Amino acid sequence: MADWIKVMPADEIPSDDVLAVTIDGREFAIYGVEGETFATDVMCTHGDARLCDGFLIGHEIECPFHQGRFDVRSGQATFGPACEPIKTYGTKVKDGVLWLWPEADN
Ligand code: FES
Repeated sequence: MADWIKVMPADEIPSDDVLAVTIDGREFAIYGVEGETFATDVMCTHGDARLCDGFLIGHEIECPFHQGRFDVRSGQATFGPACEPIKTYGTKVKDGVLWLWPEADN
């Protein structure tokens, strides 16, 4: 049964930026956008690219390979050539710690 997993101290959440974390052998991309935190898979669904190496533009992460974009809130592809959504994960901040729900929302 899934349970919330500890990610990092809340004061290490990126500010309008993205970073990758590895938890139990799985990689997640963690985004901080306007004080909110989001989590997705790291790998682009279009090719072999790590979204944590891309550019965060508002709530959209732009892939570093072909500049496809995804909304980090829903995982939906918002700009081609990306068309398949990325998986998103729940996050919460409690007692100064960022937690992640390891089962995808979508
Ligand atoms: S590999 Fe990400 S858009 Fe092509």
